[in-house]
Formats: sequence, C-alpha cells, structure tokens
Amino acid sequence: MRGLVFHGPGDIRFDDALPDPVVEAPDDVVIEVTTAGLCGSDLHPYEGREAARPGVVPGHEAVGVVTATGPQVRDFHVGDRVLVPFTTSCGACSACRRGLSARCEHGALFGWGDPEDPDRPALHGGQAARLRVPLADGTLVAVPAARSDLDAVLLADNLPTGWVAVERLGDIHGQTVVVQGLGSVGLCAVWSAWQLGAAAVLGIDPVEHRRRRAERLGATTCAPDDAASATRELTREGVAGVVDAAGTAAAQRTAADLVRPGGTVSLIAVPTQEHFAVSPVAAYDRNLTIVAGRAPVRSLLGRLLDQLDGVALPTEVVVTHAEADLADGPAVYATFAAREADMVKAVFRP
Ligand SMILES: NC(=O)c1ccc[n+]([C@@H]2O[C@H](COP(=O)([O-])OP(=O)(O)OC[C@H]3O[C@@H](n4cnc5c(N)ncnc54)[C@H](O)[C@@H]3O)[C@@H](O)[C@H]2O)c1
Ligand SMILES: [Zn+2]
Ligand SMILES: [Zn+2]
Repeated sequence: MRGLVFHGPGDIRFDDALPDPVVEAPDDVVIEVTTAGLCGSDLHPYEGREAARPGVVPGHEAVGVVTATGPQVRDFHVGDRVLVPFTTSCGACSACRRGLSARCEHGALFGWGDPEDPDRPALHGGQAARLRVPLADGTLVAVPAARSDLDAVLLADNLPTGWVAVERLGDIHGQTVVVQGLGSVGLCAVWSAWQLGAAAVLGIDPVEHRRRRAERLGATTCAPDDAASATRELTREGVAGVVDAAGTAAAQRTAADLVRPGGTVSLIAVPTQEHFAVSPVAAYDRNLTIVAGRAPVRSLLGRLLDQLDGVALPTEVVVTHAEADLADGPAVYATFAAREADMVKAVFRP
C-alpha cells in the first residue's frame, strides 16, 4: 500500500509498496483510510524533540471505512464509516471506566514505536492507505452521517483536545481566557471557549496568519511580546485561565504571569522539557492550579458528539490544506514545520 514512513528527525519518506495491514488479533479491524490529519504532535519526533522508532508509519488522526473485522469485534462491520481516536483503548480497565481512555492500561498511541523497547511492537499510524486498529470496539467511534470526513478528522484529536483543555479551566462563564499557540489545537480551544461560555478570548501566537484565523473565530489576538498589555486591556485583575497549546518554556512562564490569583493554567501541548518553567514559589504565591495531560478522545466523544449535534465545527478555519497527497508527504511535513504557506492543518487523502 501507499504510505509515509518515519526514518528519523527531518526524514519522512513516501513508500508505495508497504505491506498491507491485516487482522492480527480477534479484536482488530482494518480500515481503508479516507482522511488522515497531520498534527503538531507529529512535529515532535520530526523535529527531534521526542524519540521515536524508525520504520513506523506516522499519524494518529484517521477517518475511514472498515474493510475487515476480527471474530470478536461486535460493534463495527465492514462498510462502517469510523474515526480513530489517537490512542487505542479497551473500554474496560480502570482508566477507561474513569473516562481516561487515553491512559488505557492496554492502550497504545498510533503512529509511534518505543525506540527504547524494540521488542514492544509499534502501532503503525494513519498516514497510509490502510490502518490496523486493535481493541476496535473500545477504540473506534462511528462517524455521525451529518459530519464530513474533515469534521471527523478534527474530532479524532484536535477538537476534543482543544475542548478538554478549556474544560480543565473550570467554569469560565462570563470570564476572560487566554489561548497560547494558535495551531489547530489552539484554534479549536478558542472555538471551545466560546461554546463553554467565555466572555472574552485572547489568542496569542507569533505567527500572523494564525492570529488572523483566531480573529475569524472571534478572538482578540496579539504576539507573545504584547501578551501583558493586551491582557490588561481586557481585564484589570488577570485572566481566569490560560490554555497553553504552544508548549514552550516561554509560553508556560507567560501563562503563569497572565492568570489572576486562583486561576488555572491548562497545559495541553505535549511537553518536551524536563522541568516546569513555572517555579513552585510562583505557583504558591498565585494559588495556581496547573493541569495537564493527553485528551481522552474516545471517552470525551461519548458525550461531545451529542452535545455538539447540529453545531457547525470550525473546520473551515482550521483545515488549511484539505487535499494533501501522501506522495507529497515529505514536502508537506517540511512546510508545516516551517509554518509556511499559511499551513495550519494539512489533511492527507490516501
Ligand atoms: N494533550 C493532547 O492530548 C494533545 C493532543 C494533540 C496535540 N497536542 C499538542 O498540542 C500542541 C499544539 O498542537 P498543534 O497541532 O496546534 O501544533 P502547532 O505546532 O501547529 O501549533 C503550535 C503553535 O504554538 C505557537 N507558539 C510557539 N511559541 C509560542 C509562544 N511563546 N506563545 C504563543 N504561541 C507560541 C506556534 O507559532 C504555533 O502556531 C502540540 O504540542 C501538540 O503535540 C496535545
Ligand atoms: Zn494529533
Ligand atoms: Zn482500558
């Protein structure tokens, strides 16, 4: 089959003769991928901030049609249109039952293999023509008929991720919130903040075209250097909460500076530093709540799909390159990493 392969930092290659995935375990399904997202998380191994095993198909945001099912799969059938959350989950362990599907005891991240433990099988990702999905009943989500494949690919990761990042701020009705980092996750957080009742949203990013997109979603925006003055114009006391979808040490420090005493910093970017950039003293002195972690997409969609039924998603603002060809994958990765061509979210159509 056609697909992309991670060979090392800066080295993504297209291959048109990859082995076709097959049902290996009784609870597997195989899907034909129609749509596969490229995410800021794919940049961490690509830019060498996170170790990953060479030889693995990257990508963890897939939408497709079921083509084969193992004998123990009950809820999905050949021909079903499904979205694949970015981790697998069993649906039965303690973490899954507590709504933390992304921390399932039996779960794994798509598109990644542990470089430290070569005996542990890697789980190939969705940037390919076909994808094997283990633990299918506990992992897959049926795509509602009214949702496009592009909506569905946002629902596989960035939309519920932005949503839960805002929910973790607590009750924001009538409050001012800040979103740092206006990539796909941050833009989805801006959109979610309005849905969850924010009175004002300030979006911060050094990249101008990304700020323009946040403005289309109704946010006030500024560059990082202007964060303090832009916040003062919106509120005298500091903001109720900050979502950090940027993930840099500088952004973490700014987040802690902008919140009012008792406020919350929601770290949704994948951290690649070893230490918090916020000192425990600063956290104590400002009575900060700091909350972090992977979005449990499968658990979240259990309620979000109903809650957002009939609500138009911000797909048109967020997805900037909707028809990327896998054969152009290496160039698409390079463009995304360089923040060129006004690219925010590219989507492959295998
Ligand atoms: N927690 C989760 O479950 C989860 C899920 C998906 C993605 N993520 C992570 O969320 C983050 C964002 O993902 P994305 O796809 O939007 O990535 P992205 O790389 O497209 O966006 C990051 C943005 O941060 C901006 N930025 C950099 N420094 C900044 C600063 N000091 N202040 C403000 N903005 C700054 C960049 O210009 C960029 O626009 C990534 O770290 C990704 O790995 C986490
Ligand atoms: Zn992602
Ligand atoms: Zn589980």
